[in-house]
Parts: sequence; structure tokens; C-alpha cells
Amino acid sequence: MRILVTGGAGYIGSHTVVQLAAAGHDVVIVDNFANAKRSVVPRLEALTGTTIPVHAFDLTDRVRTDELFATEHLDAVIHFAGLKAVGESARKPLEYYENNLGSTFSLLAAMRRHDVGRLVFSSSATVYGDRAPVPYREDYEPLAAVNPYGRTKVMIEHVLADAAAADESLKVAVLRYFNPIGAHPSGTIGEDPLGIPNNLLPIIAQVAVGRRDKLSVFGDDYPTADGTCERDYIHVEDLAAGHLAALDALAEAQAPVNVWNLGTGRGTSVLEMVTAFEKASGTAIPYEIAGRREGDLAAYWADPTKAHAELGWRATRDIDDMCADTWRWQQGNPNGYPDA
Ligand code: NAD
Ligand code: UD1
Repeated sequence: MRILVTGGAGYIGSHTVVQLAAAGHDVVIVDNFANAKRSVVPRLEALTGTTIPVHAFDLTDRVRTDELFATEHLDAVIHFAGLKAVGESARKPLEYYENNLGSTFSLLAAMRRHDVGRLVFSSSATVYGDRAPVPYREDYEPLAAVNPYGRTKVMIEHVLADAAAADESLKVAVLRYFNPIGAHPSGTIGEDPLGIPNNLLPIIAQVAVGRRDKLSVFGDDYPTADGTCERDYIHVEDLAAGHLAALDALAEAQAPVNVWNLGTGRGTSVLEMVTAFEKASGTAIPYEIAGRREGDLAAYWADPTKAHAELGWRATRDIDDMCADTWRWQQGNPNGYPDA
């Protein structure tokens, strides 16, 4: 198939591009490089042994999006593009709504006009809000997020459900990711947050490589085994594989919208992650206990049984693999991708 990967220069998109190419698909990337560097592209071409068409523009531009579909003859779309920083979304809510919803509207309009009927969308465990019972199951309702970023995901899920219900040629996979970490085993692509990272693993990795002095652990008085928060960390390679499985399943899918959790089903605490990273890197990770971060939940993880039953997919890599691959990427690229 010829597959458009929106946000294909970003963290999860880039890893998925490599797996799509390995599976024999032709890949086309669209990315405005708002949160990615152009130097990822030659690395993707080296890993895939192919030349990848890259369209550098903003998907909220409906004219350019339509032109792209007119020239590329696509069979399916995997839609990663979006803004994703929770704190920033509270400061710039209109940018988040405009970017994340607007890019989805552009895509849906172009897909309808050019008869492209398969869409895989990047949603998030954040749509379960703060009341869902753990482990999170796909049939939980009502979806409710606690910040503008999360609300864009909830809104887009509703938009996709309505659009697919009204158009029988449209089949949608909504993938709710838990906490993606890790990197490609080659160490040549990985997560490269611009500026100060928000998420735990990039911060731990930067402490290990000497870019930061210490980790602040946000709270050790939660009702968990060691008092620190527990999350369902999933290797980005397993996550990428889930997209290929979802794409295949859409070919046979009866339902207009199919929701799958992509998680491991296991929780890992912040302190367990520190210990695992110390083991993988052979480096001490100094940390201090800081206050709780507003909006954090104590502990949650996925019920991944639906994805296993319906996609034949399950995560196979453990926390040690995730830390080893993150460390290989961080050590080889201490400052991330080059600017040029
Ligand atoms: P990322 O920022 O690395 O990748 C997103 C890419 O989209 C970037 O390269 C960015 O430049 C591009 N982009 C953003 N807006 C665009 C626009 N209007 N037009 C064209 N390109 C645009 O993020 P990621 O971690 O790879 O996440 C991919 C998707 O998965 C996002 O939708 C994100 O919300 C979702 N998600 C991520 C996580 C996570 O922890 N990384 C968790 C749950 C869901
Ligand atoms: C965060 C977002 C979530 C988003 C996800 C992936 C919030 C409240 N939630 O999830 O919406 O989908 O990222 O992008 O921001 N931690 C520390 N010290 C740090 C950083 C993190 O102790 O410096 C802890 C946090 O308290 C949390 C865990 O590490 O318990 C994981 O944090 P993080 O990587 O930011 O992910 P989430 O909070 O799960």
C-alpha cells in the first residue's frame, strides 16, 4: 500500500515509517517540522534503504493537503501529526484546538474527495480522564480529559466516529497509546524533545548522559507500592507494530470505528524506572523527591486484551529493553538530531 504518515518525522511516526517500509509499503511523509528536525529524514532513508517523499507543510492548510492527495495516490493514512505538550496546551489552548482539530478536518476532507478510506489515528490514554477504573478498557465512557491537549483527543475521537458513521467507505482505527518510550535498536532514531523535556524517560536519559544534574521525582506519597506514580510504559517499536496490525485489520473491519489500547498491561513506578535505567546505562541517576505535579494520577495501565484478541498484537519488549534502547540512542546522540 501507499501510506501517508502525517507527523512522520516525529518520534512515533519515524519508528512506524521504518516498520512500514520493512513490510513492503510505500511511505509518504507530511510534517511541518514544528517538533522535528529535518536531519531525521536521511536517517530514515538509510534505515529503510528507500527514498521517502517528504512534504513539508502545515496540515491545517486545506489547499495543500488536497494537492498532496491529488498527486500521491494514497491507499491509507496514519495520522500522528499534532501538538502534544500538556502544560503548553493549557497556556495556548486555541493553538492546540486549531492545530489538532484543523489538521484532522483537512485530512478527512481530502480523504473523502480522493477516495482514501482507511485512517489510523493517534489517541491517548489521557481520554480516560481521572475516573476510569484501572486497568483502562476501551468500552469505558464517558471520555473526559483534564487539559486542552487531552480534550483535542476526545473531540477528534467524536469527530471520527461521526464521520465514519456517515460514510461507509471510511474505516477508522483509534489507537490509545499509554506511555511510549525507547528507540529503534540501531540507536539512529529516537525521541528528541525540543527544549526542556516534559516526560520522565527523556529527563532520566539526559541526567544519565550529563545534560542535567538530577531528576525531580514528582511525589512519593501516592497510594502505590513505593509511593511514586505508576504508568504503563510501552516500547515505541511495539507501538509502531500496533499500527501495522491496525492497518491490516481495517481491511476486514466491519465497524466504522475500532478502538484499541496499545499498552503492556503492566504498571512501573518512577523509582523502578530509575533503577532499570541505572542498570541499563551503568550510570547513577541522582534524584530528589519533589512535590506532586498537578494533574498526575497515582497509577494506571492498559487492559490490552482487545488488541491481542482482534489484532493478534501484543507488546513483547520489557522495561530493560526500553531502557537499553533509550540509552543507546541518547549516548550516540547526546544532543539529539543535528540541526542541519
Ligand atoms: P512528535 O511531536 O514527535 O510528532 C508529531 C509530529 O507532527 C512532529 O514531527 C510535528 O512537527 C508534526 N506536526 C504537528 N502539527 C503538524 C501540522 N499541523 N502539520 C504537519 N505536521 C505537524 O510526537 P509523537 O510523540 O511522535 O506523537 C505522535 C502522536 O501521538 C501525537 O498525535 C501525540 O499526541 C500522540 N501521542 C503521543 C504520546 C507520547 O507520549 N509521545 C502519547 C499519546 C499520544
Ligand atoms: C504525560 C501527560 C499525558 C500524555 C503523556 C505522554 C500529564 C499530566 N500527562 O503523561 O497527558 O499523554 O505524558 O506524552 O502531563 N515524573 C517525575 N519527574 C519528572 C517527569 C515525570 O517524577 O521530571 C513522573 C510523573 O509524575 C509521572 C511519570 O513520571 O508519574 C510519567 O510522567 P510523564 O512521562 O510526564 O507521563 P504522564 O504523566 O504519564
